[in-house]
Amino acid sequence: MTSHPKLYEGKAKILYATDDPAVLLTYFKDDATAFNAQKRGSIQGKGAANCAIASHLFQQLELKGIPTHFIDQPSPNEMRVKAVKIVPLEVVIRNIAAGSLCKQTGLALGTVIQPPLIEFYYKNDELGDPLLTRDRLFLMKLATPEQVAQLQIMALKINEILTEFFQNCGITLVDFKLEFGVDQNQQILLADEISPDTCRLWNQAETDPTRRVMDKDRFRHDLGEVETAYQQVLERVLASSDKVGEIQ
Ligand code: TMP
Ligand code: ASP
Repeated sequence: MTSHPKLYEGKAKILYATDDPAVLLTYFKDDATAFNAQKRGSIQGKGAANCAIASHLFQQLELKGIPTHFIDQPSPNEMRVKAVKIVPLEVVIRNIAAGSLCKQTGLALGTVIQPPLIEFYYKNDELGDPLLTRDRLFLMKLATPEQVAQLQIMALKINEILTEFFQNCGITLVDFKLEFGVDQNQQILLADEISPDTCRLWNQAETDPTRRVMDKDRFRHDLGEVETAYQQVLERVLASSDKVGEIQ
């Protein structure tokens, strides 16, 4: 671990300052929480797996023109990132109905959503990250209309790139959550992480609704073999990234 000053400790990551004020260091922990930290635990190897998965996905996205906060991965659990002001929104993109969407709407698990659904949640643990309407988002001045329009365009593009990437891994990208930040030039960058903590990923080789789950739902719903699922996603992401590298 680093000797730099700790700026913030979240549920799954710690943020450190570095000698360069434009650069921060993120340490990925094995700690896992669910349901706004009502459920707590640890997933062995999760920190390193998520750090590597997120690093590879950020690089894939950069190659396709998405600006991200990623700089490099100096050690297995550490990612250096550009310092940004985080937009207090969780942007969720859904390709297939699952999770809270099914619970709140009655839509059947597995219903294909076309075009993909983009939702904005208020990033606020005390309030339990509530789902926002556009009017509430503007009322609270969480982002400008121009920023929301840009977030939607970026979210859809990211969804296209990641859906194709995971397809090449034999994985269906069901839904996922993104966070964005604004840099000194007011440019919006993709921030936080993309990993089995923040995505629903279904193994295309399995049809059983429990066996196919390769993400944090294994931890949330006590499905077992949580560590194995994270390692399998990591292996497939690394193998697929190599293939992309070869054809470039
Ligand atoms: P949901 O169905 O529970 O609303 O989750 C939608 C997606 O967002 C799912 O891929 C998991 C991810 N997610 C997070 O990354 N963080 C969260 O706090 C929550 C609730 C969901
Ligand atoms: N990340 C959230 C929490 O801990 C919720 C979740 O991922 O289910 O509490």
